[in-house]
Amino acid sequence: MHQSTSFSAESYFATQSAPPSLAQDIADVQAFVARQAAANRNVVLVTSGGTTVPLELNVVRFLDNFSAGTRGATSAEYFLKAGYAVIFMHRQFSLQPFSRHYSHSTNPFLDFLAVEGEGDGDGTVGITADKRTDADLLAVLTAYKGVQMAGSLHTLTFVTVNDYLWLLRAVSQELSLLRRRAMYYLAAAVSDFFLPRQKMSEHKIQSGKGSLHIEMDQVPKVLKPMVEEWTRDGFIVSFKLETDDRLLIPKARAALERYGHQVVIGNDLHTRKMQVVFVERKRKPLPPLPPEENAGPLPPPKSPADAHGAGEETESMTFVESWLRITPPAATTSTQVKEIEEDIVAELVRRHAAWIVHDR
Ligand code: PMT
Repeated sequence: MHQSTSFSAESYFATQSAPPSLAQDIADVQAFVARQAAANRNVVLVTSGGTTVPLELNVVRFLDNFSAGTRGATSAEYFLKAGYAVIFMHRQFSLQPFSRHYSHSTNPFLDFLAVEGEGDGDGTVGITADKRTDADLLAVLTAYKGVQMAGSLHTLTFVTVNDYLWLLRAVSQELSLLRRRAMYYLAAAVSDFFLPRQKMSEHKIQSGKGSLHIEMDQVPKVLKPMVEEWTRDGFIVSFKLETDDRLLIPKARAALERYGHQVVIGNDLHTRKMQVVFVERKRKPLPPLPPEENAGPLPPPKSPADAHGAGEETESMTFVESWLRITPPAATTSTQVKEIEEDIVAELVRRHAAWIVHDR
């Protein structure tokens, strides 16, 4: 495949169609943001899962980006636990907060249920949870019901990279009403190339002509307009995924320089569940938060170096990098093992609180 010219964000949205559900999705987000603003909650947009690139208008084949949605779904739970409201924008059928503990492949939920009353003769049967799993299931269920009661989780789905870009722009614009109280946590794996609808075959591409040559265009880098136009003073965290870990820090620094947002979290494909690196511009030390600003659902200050496992900080002239690591879980019968997202979120909540109070 050859790659072709790149679209600007502006020309992209002028030429590619919005998904049919966009207007309804945005009306729902608007109502959610208004409720959270009234409840005085910070809100985080979490993007999660991979985006597809369809090759035909009547789509039979598509390219996909790797991501199970674990990072996004797990992080969303910890943000909720920290008192944030969450807009969870995820790839259809990827993992979701709470239900992720009992997906079809890990802990199939039917295995946790038992039939009760069978053979009573009166025709009535009931369903109960398997007693051995009560503690773990109860913890997840209690957290899930609490979030439902509080109305602090709103879910949106995308499939294609086009759906993702339209939704990201619209949701960011709605959330920007909260100014500094909004965080954007971009964990989705977004395709860098796409096929504009004007170049797509209407019907299934036929195989009779031998090999297939497709020229793809570059997806516009939306972090720049996100920082400069769509969000006002929001706290923006992007992820950088590499398979060669020597590229992580240079690429993360380049992204910060190019887009001017707050934090890049670098992760290597193979070690991403055990270690990540926070990269940000160097700043002057902050004065401590006044006591009243420190109140509420925010956890006490904690730095990556204090987190579970080892952490280390290195500085260049312009950037500072902090590694956050967890140690592999010990053998346990519980499903509640230590997850690196717990520490990632704690660290971001701390930095976001400082961002809100100190204006940088
Ligand atoms: O879901 P898991 O299986 O747990 O895996 C999690 C993860 C490895 C996918 C996640 O931790 C991660 O690294 N996500 C970002 C992967 C990625 O797309 O990196 P990138 O270098 O292509 O993009 C960098 C950032 O810019 C991303 O935050 C992306 O959301 C954003 N982006 C990228 C391209 C584009 N056109 N617009 C964007 O906004």
